Amino acid sequence: MAKLLINENKMEGTIAPEIYGHFSEHLGRCIYEGLYVGENSEIPNVNGMRCDVVDALKEIKVPVLRWPGGCFADEYHWKDGIGPKAGRKKMINTHWGGVVEDNSFGTHEYFELCRQLGCKTYVNGNLGSGTVQEMSEWVEYMTFNGVSPMADLRKQNGHEEPWKVDYFGVGNENWGCGGNMTPQYYGNEYRRYQTYVRNYDGAAPIKKICCGANIDDYHWTKNVLDVAFDHTPEQLHGFMDGISLHYYVHPEGWEIKGSATDYDEEVWYKTLNKAYYMETLVRRHSDIIDQYDPDKKVGLMVDEWGTWFACEPGTNPGFLYQQSTVRDALVAGVTLNIFNKYCDRVKMANIAQMVNVLQAVILTEGEKMVKTPTYHVFHMYRHHQGAELLNSTLSGSGEVGPEEWRVPNITESVSRDRDGVITITLNNLSATAAEKVEIAFADHGKKYEVVEANIVTDKQMQAHNTFEDPDHVTEQAFTGYEVTADGITVTLPACSVTEIRVK
Ligand code: AHR
Repeated sequence: MAKLLINENKMEGTIAPEIYGHFSEHLGRCIYEGLYVGENSEIPNVNGMRCDVVDALKEIKVPVLRWPGGCFADEYHWKDGIGPKAGRKKMINTHWGGVVEDNSFGTHEYFELCRQLGCKTYVNGNLGSGTVQEMSEWVEYMTFNGVSPMADLRKQNGHEEPWKVDYFGVGNENWGCGGNMTPQYYGNEYRRYQTYVRNYDGAAPIKKICCGANIDDYHWTKNVLDVAFDHTPEQLHGFMDGISLHYYVHPEGWEIKGSATDYDEEVWYKTLNKAYYMETLVRRHSDIIDQYDPDKKVGLMVDEWGTWFACEPGTNPGFLYQQSTVRDALVAGVTLNIFNKYCDRVKMANIAQMVNVLQAVILTEGEKMVKTPTYHVFHMYRHHQGAELLNSTLSGSGEVGPEEWRVPNITESVSRDRDGVITITLNNLSATAAEKVEIAFADHGKKYEVVEANIVTDKQMQAHNTFEDPDHVTEQAFTGYEVTADGITVTLPACSVTEIRVK
């Protein structure tokens, strides 16, 4: 039997709530239809934002929302998205389906959405095709509280007070869609552009994020850090608060990707094996960042992650619309456990993307909405947000899956919140077999009681929610545990993500 030993006296860092962050790009039906339907829509909305979607998102406590891209960010000219809507420029969304972007969702609408969600803001600037002046003026428009051309323009457009920009991304994927730059070139550009991401008097400091690597491009991380500052801790910490990492799971590789719903056991393990690879990526990129920032002040921001499958048959291939099954729930559970465990370095992560795109937490069709299995995992894991990571060690659980795609049978992470409640999240990656785990605590004398236990699972590993059957896979009360003299024994069904909360 597997054994999970929790040392509740050994805290290993605070789990930044932002690890549970989201990403919304002008891509397919994420913003338009998914989040924003416009004030005149028959779909109930507040200032154009869908009420059903906003209400559902509030339940998972969205901590931060990244916008406007993605690849779109490096083609986005923010001035096209302000002022009276009728006068806003229309543009072609070259990356995503070649559709017309009418700019009806712009800066003001983004901050309104974040206001409704009650979340922090993460604006991604345009370094690839924009100028330093354009980026600097955007920051001035959003955050300056005084008399200046951009602050006056904002007021003219109906927003007297400045907004709070919590995070600002200086370009996106500048090794690819953001300009095909070399790390040395980008590193130099980063120095220049970030200079003008100003902290105006009285405004809360903006955390600046440098464009990091694609997957295992350790060369990029190292070379950008070599160039982007003069190797003094003062300059590093003045220049950047985070460096990003992007990693997507596509079981059959970039070209084919594989179906979101039609897969067998081998592909189940292949997908989870690729999801678990996040641990290697986080560890190895962190090792590099450690060399420049031993004090761990610069966060590794995994600001795009998730599954990327072939689009749903019959949908626009440029819209990246895919279903989400129990397999996605496991990918989310495994990945979030990894981020929790590395909370000393991972300070933010943003699942791609929030609604209707890739591993979305919500899908919409007209006025209908469904919560995906991934949504329910985020709902359970919300208890980790801002909690203290506790030392936990798993033994005796072994590995499962075919030789080439072995994965740990069980993954876990454990935290304690301000009220002293310990949240234990466990994933059983086996496609077929239940697994018993004996949970023990270092503090033998203390008797813990289970205050809450929930699970996301299904007997069918391809199970998912549809508009006809929206509650096929949901969070259910979990009863498969027994409190013993030595701790708690749980029986985790195959294909399951479970949380147990004890006090
Ligand atoms: O999330 C979809 C796309 O994936 C983003 O626009 C880009 O940054 C990444 O390649």
